Amino acid sequence: MSSILALDDEHDMLALLSRIISEKSSHELTTLADSHQLSQLLEQKRFDVVLTDLKMPGKSGLDVLEEIKQKSPRTAVIIMTAYGTIESALQATRKGAFDYITKPFRKERILHVIEQALNWQQLQQENIFLRQKLEEKTTLPELVGSTPIMRALFDQIHKVAATSATVLITGQSGTGKELVARALHSQSARSAQRFIPIDCSTIPESIIESELFGHVKGSFTGAIRNKKGMVEEANHGTLFLDEIADLNPAMQVKLLRLLQEGEYKVVGSNSISKADIRFIAATNRNLPEKIRSGEFREDLFYRLNVINIRLPSLDERKEDIPLLVAHFLDKYNRLYCKNIKRVSEDLMRNMVARAWPGNIRELEHAVERGVIMASGEFLELSDISAGAMSLKASPQEIGECSELFSMPFKEAKDALIERFHSEYISRVLSRNAGNVSKAARESGLKRQYLHRLMRETRLDSKTFKKNQPD
Ligand SMILES: Nc1ncnc2c1ncn2[C@@H]1O[C@H](COP(=O)(O)OP(=O)(O)OP(=O)(O)O)[C@@H](O)[C@H]1O
Ligand SMILES: [Mg+2]
Repeated sequence: MSSILALDDEHDMLALLSRIISEKSSHELTTLADSHQLSQLLEQKRFDVVLTDLKMPGKSGLDVLEEIKQKSPRTAVIIMTAYGTIESALQATRKGAFDYITKPFRKERILHVIEQALNWQQLQQENIFLRQKLEEKTTLPELVGSTPIMRALFDQIHKVAATSATVLITGQSGTGKELVARALHSQSARSAQRFIPIDCSTIPESIIESELFGHVKGSFTGAIRNKKGMVEEANHGTLFLDEIADLNPAMQVKLLRLLQEGEYKVVGSNSISKADIRFIAATNRNLPEKIRSGEFREDLFYRLNVINIRLPSLDERKEDIPLLVAHFLDKYNRLYCKNIKRVSEDLMRNMVARAWPGNIRELEHAVERGVIMASGEFLELSDISAGAMSLKASPQEIGECSELFSMPFKEAKDALIERFHSEYISRVLSRNAGNVSKAARESGLKRQYLHRLMRETRLDSKTFKKNQPD
């Protein structure tokens, strides 16, 4: 049995909470109307969850939060607030409150938040060993950077990973949003569970609901068997909603319900399903602008933006370029069985001085191209300015590259898939003389998806325009 404390100066609210909690759960509830008595109470009793009003005479909800964090750091604090004071509630979540709920609330919502808080505590306890191991790590293995702006970012990731709070990652294309989302998951108490990414920009509107929520057999033409949705796959783990700005309005409503109440409906089913998920969303678009133009729901934005992680563009941290280049040189040396020692001074000067609109992804591909092209021990300017067509990562080379087989499985697989993408797309674009629509048709890919793969592999359709089709 878990113990809960509810703190509110309004007796009606305390009575309501008592009714909801005693009716629907077996938790033990203590209520307190006078926040001055909190200190004394905390000396006598430990609570798993504290629900506190934000505005009260005497101690405010923020004071309560601070006191509890100090005296009983494992207690989850949930802030109750009226809509008008949402900003302060968000501030409280940033200061370590588990979550907030807006008054008036549905009873399902309050019960869901309490269950989530308790789940989170249990996960944390089960993972003490893992957490200790993670806490020993001071840097994030894959995220390279040593500038103050990056160090602050690593620090933020460490802190945020330990909570279950929803995170919105913003930043230009290629700045590492997905990498940060994965780091947040792998450093969290949920790391033994799954990380499920979903790209809202590439899944056709007609099937996104069934992709996310699953469907039951016969719910529409083509639904020949029951299908699990990504939400179910991500249960107890993390769901990464990439390119969230592209989510259509109908789905925005459904997602909001999932975020607020942990509830959703499988397509074609009448019953309500529950999920316990940590949500991370990412976008390179300006969401406040999309809210103003009516394309994105403000309430959903608030729900997603509990914690904002903004990734700097490469221009904002040019001092990291040499470090990043060394990192990618090492990565691609291993992948292509090369031994390029370093980058020529000329090239490094050029790399630091030029603009990188595609940010780290663009820099990474430039180094990859260079590694493939270079014949000596140094990478020269001419090696990376060679056209994208020179990227010849033929699958036949795999057998010769024993390094690939001594890398961790996932890394090797990702690297190989990336090489496959480049090779496949180069060929299909070349056959179609750079005509993306034709190439998409021929390969059976959605045009948008092909564009995305092209962006990721830095292949430009223009490069193929001059080539004769095979
Ligand atoms: N700090 C970093 N250190 C090392 N590699 C990085 C870093 N940031 C990003 N990368 C690499 O850059 C590439 C792009 O990163 P990622 O896919 O996470 O970007 P993104 O912000 O999600 O881009 P988009 O908006 O286009 O989807 C990846 O190959 C990733 O591994
Ligand atoms: Mg991305």
